Amino acid sequence: VEQVKAIQPTGTATAGSRFVRACLRQPVDRTPVWLLRQAGRYMPEYMAVRKHHSLLDICRTPDIAAEVTITAAERLGVDAAIIFADLLLPFTPMGLDFEFLAGEGPVVHVPVRTVEQVRALRTDRIDELSYVARAIEKVTAHFSAPRADGDQLGIIGFCGAPFTLASYMIEGGSSRNYIETKKLMYGDDIAWPMLMEKLVTVLVGYAQQQVEAGADVIQIFDSWVGALGVTDYRRYCLPSVTELVRRIQSLGVPVIYFGVDTASLLSAMSETKADVIGLDWRIPLDEGWKAVGAGCAVQGNLDPITLFAPQDVLKDRVREVLAAAGGRPGHIFNLGHGIVPGTPVENVIKVIEWVKEYGAQ
Ligand code: CP3
Repeated sequence: VEQVKAIQPTGTATAGSRFVRACLRQPVDRTPVWLLRQAGRYMPEYMAVRKHHSLLDICRTPDIAAEVTITAAERLGVDAAIIFADLLLPFTPMGLDFEFLAGEGPVVHVPVRTVEQVRALRTDRIDELSYVARAIEKVTAHFSAPRADGDQLGIIGFCGAPFTLASYMIEGGSSRNYIETKKLMYGDDIAWPMLMEKLVTVLVGYAQQQVEAGADVIQIFDSWVGALGVTDYRRYCLPSVTELVRRIQSLGVPVIYFGVDTASLLSAMSETKADVIGLDWRIPLDEGWKAVGAGCAVQGNLDPITLFAPQDVLKDRVREVLAAAGGRPGHIFNLGHGIVPGTPVENVIKVIEWVKEYGAQ
């Protein structure tokens, strides 16, 4: 049963935002730009907040999450702000305890490995995530007026994709080979589809809260889907993520669908009908765009580690990405994956400046 109501995107935000227009492949004055993990640990302003608050405290306190989101967007001068949150937040209302351990990343204390555990996952407590929506409301209010150049800053909400979230649930944390995830996926044709379906239910409700709070676009992170071959991707993931994309689009917003190491999956990923496909850096942007087809916009795809290169090399790489996009409507400049800790802030700021300088369309 379709629970979500179609709501209209706010007309002015859509019309006046080069980021939202690019998501819809409409013409823009110049290529819009924002960066994956733009509010992360490379940034001194974020580390100053982190000194006094844990990651989860920041996520769960709307004033602080909004402040971190806004500070990064304004410091960098990007065209969109992604809400500061984490992929794993929906685990708590589903009944899974987790924490972030320094140096180890996320740890799920009791990994989900049996059909009984999947059956026990709750889908009826999504309201407990409303602190993310409250933070989005604050960010939306802050950026309600157009900026100096007349452009409306885009507000991005996000969630994980079913496969990537399932991998954290099942492995109990980050993974190299996804052995437990694939064991469940190949071995239990009750538990796997049930898990995918429960995740879609939760994620649609979560996305709806974010859209109602003011998110202009929702990005779905399928960060680790590149662990799958295309045949298994089609068999075990594509149906649920297609359903997720469709139901988020029916909320009235464009969807960006992003994964890493996806060169061989891009054509299948475009079958989700996501408005935008996020490209990693391993495939040249023009080849990636060809693979997803002209009916999709693309986002990407500078190697985040080029931010450590000498500035003349970095500048060439930025111009190469722009050249590969060819000034066609429907390119959003970004990295191919998140900024890593230790990245020089001055190089990040330079990249944004160069996209503005050379990204005229
Ligand atoms: O601009 C932003 O940085 C937005 C905020 C954001 C965070 N997590 C905060 C965070 C976003 C968009 C995410 C998404 C996320 N979370 C992803 C997908 C993103 C991608 O790059 O593919 C994933 C896989 C996660 C799960 C997660 N959260 C991991 C694996 C880790 C540990 C990473 C590490 O290097 O230690 C986190 C922690 C996390 N989430 C941090 C931040 C800023 C860093 C830890 C900290 O501040 O203590």
